[in-house]
Amino acid sequence: MEFGKKILCIGAGYVGGPTMAMIAYKCPQYRVTVVDINPARIAQWNSDDLPIYEPGLEEIVKTSRGKNLFFNTDIEGGIKEAEIIFVSVNTPTKTFGSGMGMAADLQYWDKTAKQIRKFAESDKIIVEKSTLPVKTALAMERILTATNNGIHFEVLSNPEFLAEGTGIKDLEDPDRVLIGSRETPSGLKARDSLIEVYANWVPQDRIITSNVWSSELSKLVANAFLAQRISSINSISALCERTDADITEVARAVGMDRRLGNKFLNASVGFGGSCFKKDILNLVYLCRHYGLEEVADYWQGVVTINEYQKERVITNMLSTMFNTLAGKRICLFGFAFKANTSDTRESPAVTISKRLIEEKAELVITDPKALDNAKMDLDTIEGNISYVEDPYEASDGCDAIAVMTEWEAYKNLDFEMIYRSMAKPAFIFDGRNILDHKILFAIGFNVFPIGKPPLTHFK
Ligand code: NAD
Ligand code: UGA
Repeated sequence: MEFGKKILCIGAGYVGGPTMAMIAYKCPQYRVTVVDINPARIAQWNSDDLPIYEPGLEEIVKTSRGKNLFFNTDIEGGIKEAEIIFVSVNTPTKTFGSGMGMAADLQYWDKTAKQIRKFAESDKIIVEKSTLPVKTALAMERILTATNNGIHFEVLSNPEFLAEGTGIKDLEDPDRVLIGSRETPSGLKARDSLIEVYANWVPQDRIITSNVWSSELSKLVANAFLAQRISSINSISALCERTDADITEVARAVGMDRRLGNKFLNASVGFGGSCFKKDILNLVYLCRHYGLEEVADYWQGVVTINEYQKERVITNMLSTMFNTLAGKRICLFGFAFKANTSDTRESPAVTISKRLIEEKAELVITDPKALDNAKMDLDTIEGNISYVEDPYEASDGCDAIAVMTEWEAYKNLDFEMIYRSMAKPAFIFDGRNILDHKILFAIGFNVFPIGKPPLTHFK
């Protein structure tokens, strides 16, 4: 069969895999290939056991794989063949040199650009899918045109806004698709070619265009605004705990203002995930680079409050469990950074586990999907840690349960049975406010939610 467009994606991660699976699923007339330098990851994409857990992903991969969706490691062949190349490699925070701990590490990005330049034999549209500092497309253009080989590369910015756990729904029904291009004739032509891809399933009015720099910056700003809301509500949760106000009631009252809206107002143990922190730090770094110290300080505050919130969880546990956690068995309900994903990158549970081990607590970790990642995350930590899939077994004999992830399944457990099996006094720290605190209290638990008055049996 002759395919209408040949699309390549470099980087078969949380973004590259699902995004390309959706394009292939919605556009059977296109051939979509996903390549990666990691052969193990590619093998998993070609197996029954996909490398990431994302509701709905397996179905769409299975529908298209081997028909118009292919996963392989032939980066050279893929580049030669494709007209449109999405680049979806990782862009973590730099861990060395200038900008360490703040700036985006663009080494994978840089290598990809050089590979494209090396292997391309015809004109290409290069699409930035990774989240990048503003003006990165310019660097990409400079790398691609450095050898003056007569091939035209048009660089577009098309940031991805999917959230893990709802990734497939977000891809299928996005709030918007943003495409940034140069305003030149070739830039506009490339932009139209990418619009044509999305128009296969996304309504035209939700495909928006801008210049490249606005597009790159919009992605960082969208993440910063989302994270800012969480830090805002989390900061107020601390005040609620001092004043007997209830964060859920405050969030409801605030969120009913249509100008504010009710999303992203759930107080928690802090935000996690591979992107919020790294993207805000990147934004802060950019602002400092341009001498905008006040702006940088403002956004830095979002990250500072998030660190404060995680530490607050530990200090609350310490003070309520009689100022010592040494030798106490604490069961973490959930390790993923949010529900419906196996991803544990920057999960608050990682930091909290490490702090609990420092306090010499014994940890039992349970999670329906993320235990393998949890084991890897805590691999180098010396301490008493066990991993148990069944939450009943995990909490057996424990002094406390701490809810880290808002898995639906935790709401429906038999807490009477759990209470009977635990050491007494039994504590529950509900770091996601998902449980029925009054019922737990009636069962006998001492209950410590986030941003609400605790319910305790102590006189
Ligand atoms: P990831 O680490 O899951 O995947 C990146 C993949 O790129 C890895 O499999 C890696 O092996 C591969 N890679 C690196 N260099 C390569 C090269 N030279 N050639 C081929 N493959 C290479 O990362 P991710 O979570 O998919 O994120 C990718 C980008 O998308 C980041 O910039 C991130 O900020 C952004 N983003 C992520 C999400 C998310 O939900 N995870 C959402 C929106 C945007
Ligand atoms: C986030 C954005 O929502 C996506 O739009 C973006 O594409 C993505 O980052 C990215 O660039 O990587 P994601 O991190 O997958 O998506 O998940 P979110 O739903 O945003 O949750 C992030 C964290 O905030 C989680 O730890 C979650 O539990 C926490 N959160 C979220 C709260 O603590 N309270 C809330 O009210 C909402």
